[in-house]
Amino acid sequence: MPNHPKAPKFKNVPRHVAIIMDGNGRWAKQRGLPRIEGHRKGVESVRATVEAAGETGVEFLTLYAFSVENWNRPKAEVDTLMRLLQQFLRDEIAELNKHNVRLQAIGRLADLPASVGGQLHETILATSRNTGLTLILALSYSGRIEIIEAVQSVIREIQLGHIDPAQIDETVFSRHLYTRYYPDPDLLIRTSGEMRLSNFLLWQLSYTELFVTPTLWPDFRKPDFYEAVRSYESRNRRYGRI
Ligand code: IPE
Ligand code: IPE
Ligand code: MG
Repeated sequence: MPNHPKAPKFKNVPRHVAIIMDGNGRWAKQRGLPRIEGHRKGVESVRATVEAAGETGVEFLTLYAFSVENWNRPKAEVDTLMRLLQQFLRDEIAELNKHNVRLQAIGRLADLPASVGGQLHETILATSRNTGLTLILALSYSGRIEIIEAVQSVIREIQLGHIDPAQIDETVFSRHLYTRYYPDPDLLIRTSGEMRLSNFLLWQLSYTELFVTPTLWPDFRKPDFYEAVRSYESRNRRYGRI
């Protein structure tokens, strides 16, 4: 995809960037605000990042928005996150269309409240003809559950006689993951300085370049995204070779 005139020029643009958007609660705490204010502010970071990714020429952007483990947070916080998500999905359709962004989602989508699931479906449909950036939201996502569901799906195919166990290799298995339509991420960004994967894309991140920034997600803006891509540009991806 062409590099947008507004974005810096990069020699080597990652095709797929995945982001663990972390630090909303700490951002709010630092300001003596309730955690939800951090989540609210984080929506602005999502907007800026989607624009930056599109303008850079990234093809796929996966955002970890809500994990299966996040259901264990206090009900009031979960309810607020779901409300913010629904609002985002409803209010952002025009903006996504304006920027030619196609929305997709991965995770246990059936776990979402019906109203959120309905809005998600609507926004996916309303943006399905866009040909620019593909924005993938990970919602009620768990990397281990994704792998288990893929195993179950492979077993069903075997039982139906559609595949022979001897044929199962990485390519065949990958076709049973939520991410079957997307390439593996080239670059993973995590904000707020935490050095862990938190159950995100465990299979897909095998050879992904990692970039951890101390910046809290609500403060993350276009220059932070460009900094991560700059860092990616200078990496030497060896895949075990020399
Ligand atoms: C990320 O920010 C948003 C979600 C996980 C939904 P956090 O809410 O995890 O913020 P911290 O990590 O507590 O600061
Ligand atoms: C990871 O952040 C999940 C999302 C960003 C949606 P968490 O804040 O839930 O991760 P931990 O608990 O610090 O590992
Ligand atoms: Mg966190």
